[in-house]
Amino acid sequence: MKIDGTTALVTGGLRGLGAAFTAELLARGAKKVYATSRGTASHDDPRVETVALDVDDAAAVAAFARTATDVDLVVNNAGLATGSNLLTSPLDDVRREFETNVFGVLHVARAFAPVLAANGGGALLDVHSVLSWATTGSGYEASKAAAWGVTNGLRALLAPQGTLVTGLHLGYTDTDMIAHLDVPKNDPRDVARAALDGIGRDATEVLADEVSRQVKSLLSGDPAALVL
Ligand SMILES: NC(=O)c1ccc[n+]([C@@H]2O[C@H](COP(=O)([O-])OP(=O)(O)OC[C@H]3O[C@@H](n4cnc5c(N)ncnc54)[C@H](OP(=O)(O)O)[C@@H]3O)[C@@H](O)[C@H]2O)c1
Repeated sequence: MKIDGTTALVTGGLRGLGAAFTAELLARGAKKVYATSRGTASHDDPRVETVALDVDDAAAVAAFARTATDVDLVVNNAGLATGSNLLTSPLDDVRREFETNVFGVLHVARAFAPVLAANGGGALLDVHSVLSWATTGSGYEASKAAAWGVTNGLRALLAPQGTLVTGLHLGYTDTDMIAHLDVPKNDPRDVARAALDGIGRDATEVLADEVSRQVKSLLSGDPAALVL
């Protein structure tokens, strides 16, 4: 799919990796970017329309889709990590991760599938993680694994309408989400570039870094090798 001239939606598009997506879409000639936030952040490029949206709220996402009828590229970027442990954390922390990382992704996909169809198919990019596959036992990782399954299902369901469905996997990336970790991190701009390059060549999957490529290569082996 060609990015030049696209009208995109980036959930969580005003900070972190989402802001890098918004910037890279503009740099590649996007006609318009709807960038959502639950806060009051703004953007100074006239091609960016900021939208207040919580992806956990299915009705709000559906209402927004009824107004944003020109979208032909959806970037399901919004995500949440509570730091939960599957066995010992309050179950609500795990549920919140699933609510945003799985059901939020699904709310957006369900609301925008008809919009994408009406605009010729377009593309849906879901932001996953290397932690869709490797695990320490957190709710976040389990939610990202579930989201990967959702994306694969959506690919089957949206193929007949000509929608490209792409999954993005990445390791540590320099955003607020992992600001507390003192580890080597990707530049979010490099991740956004890799993802949009992938959309440009109609890729169904983008592995944005070496760790994602390494962990993906372990999937046919013993799952014990996926324990971090
Ligand atoms: N950073 C990493 O190392 C890393 C690695 C692998 C995958 N990822 C994934 O990359 C994506 C972006 O994360 P990030 O690193 O940029 O994290 P971040 O800095 O914590 O930003 C999270 C983004 O998600 C949005 N968001 C969270 N909950 C939302 C909700 N209920 N409704 C709408 N928007 C919501 C936030 O928007 P507002 O707060 O402005 O509303 C913000 O834009 C996520 O899917 C994350 O899981 C990140």
